[in-house]
Amino acid sequence: MAWQRTLLSLSALASCAVVYAQEPPGFIPLSEKKFKYPDGIPLKVDTDDYGRGAQFGVNQCGPKTEGQTSVCQTALINSLDDFCLWAPPKPNSTIGDTEGEAVAWCTKPGHGARVIPKGALTGVQFMRTRVHYSSPDYVQVVGTIDQTQINIAKDDFGGEMDSHGADRRGNPLGGIFYSNAFPSSGGDKNKYEQVIEWHNFMGSNTFCLKACDPAGKNAAKFCEHRFDRIGCEFNAPSKPFASITGTFESCKGENQDFPGVYFENGKEKLYEQPPEALGPITSVPYTARIPASSDCVAQPSSLLYAAAATVTGTGTTTTSAAAGGTTKATSTGGKATSAGANSVAPSKSSTPGSSDAPATVVVSSALAGIFSVFLLCIFAL
Ligand SMILES: *[C@@H]1O[C@H](CO)[C@@H](O)[C@H](O)[C@H]1NC(C)=O
Repeated sequence: MAWQRTLLSLSALASCAVVYAQEPPGFIPLSEKKFKYPDGIPLKVDTDDYGRGAQFGVNQCGPKTEGQTSVCQTALINSLDDFCLWAPPKPNSTIGDTEGEAVAWCTKPGHGARVIPKGALTGVQFMRTRVHYSSPDYVQVVGTIDQTQINIAKDDFGGEMDSHGADRRGNPLGGIFYSNAFPSSGGDKNKYEQVIEWHNFMGSNTFCLKACDPAGKNAAKFCEHRFDRIGCEFNAPSKPFASITGTFESCKGENQDFPGVYFENGKEKLYEQPPEALGPITSVPYTARIPASSDCVAQPSSLLYAAAATVTGTGTTTTSAAAGGTTKATSTGGKATSAGANSVAPSKSSTPGSSDAPATVVVSSALAGIFSVFLLCIFAL
């Protein structure tokens, strides 16, 4: 025990050194920064130019920032025809390499951001939860996309972006989300609520984005950000991508289980995601439950995304590569099975878990890790 204590203290001191070098005095984590939409939003919400550097883009987005070179980092998720995803600013990038600087790509102009080019979305399911029809916990959009059209490299299996990250500056740094879909907006399309807890997995020509209602007691749990290596299947379970491809629908749904929570012989269990140092995750001991949904209303994409019709993409893939959506990553040149956004990541390529693991912080790979670092610091000092 004694040697363990010593080890612990040593690592605690090392951790403290790392943490103190990282976070400047008065640092406020992204998930604690709140801004009223739109007038309360500063030019950049992240002013902590340390560690990973300065915030890439801006948060004041409007007519001046609108267009395909926009660096807008204020995103929205409102409905089937009106949402934004995070994707790289430059073509042929991997999520792992650029998650800190991702910009908003929206389904329609008017948000001061880039527009997802016509035809890039190949299937979308928008889901609004309706716990007993009264208090929804989250809205979610899941779908398939020709990811080259939004600057993601053809073979990239991607990773997770969220409002946390090991340095608590978010991925992208300073990226914020708003929604008019929660009850607090009362159906007023111009009344936006800031989404504090959200996660967005992009990769393998698939995506899932969940935005948790801050009024919900369990927002942080439904939008858990620690399971960044096991993709949409476990973090935002929906009907399979293969069945979503070719349809564009808006549904009501029951709540998912919290990501990582599963039931075995009637007993609740919590999955522990192994650290990246232990190599690729080849299996997960459970299958995430897909919650029931109903009242799905389908619409043709030509109507939903008509305003995107004028935007052409930079992608270079052929139509076959754009098929996406199959849970087999057919476009990844036979590399393992599915990936990043939609399943357990194969061993190759960038760093699917890197949303919580910037190079400078090696002691922990999740917010939980940061908390324990703080605890250790308290004990060590
Ligand atoms: C994308 O980047 C990869 C790796 O840098 C390169 O091999 C490939 O040719 C690039 N593809 C395109 C379409 O530019």
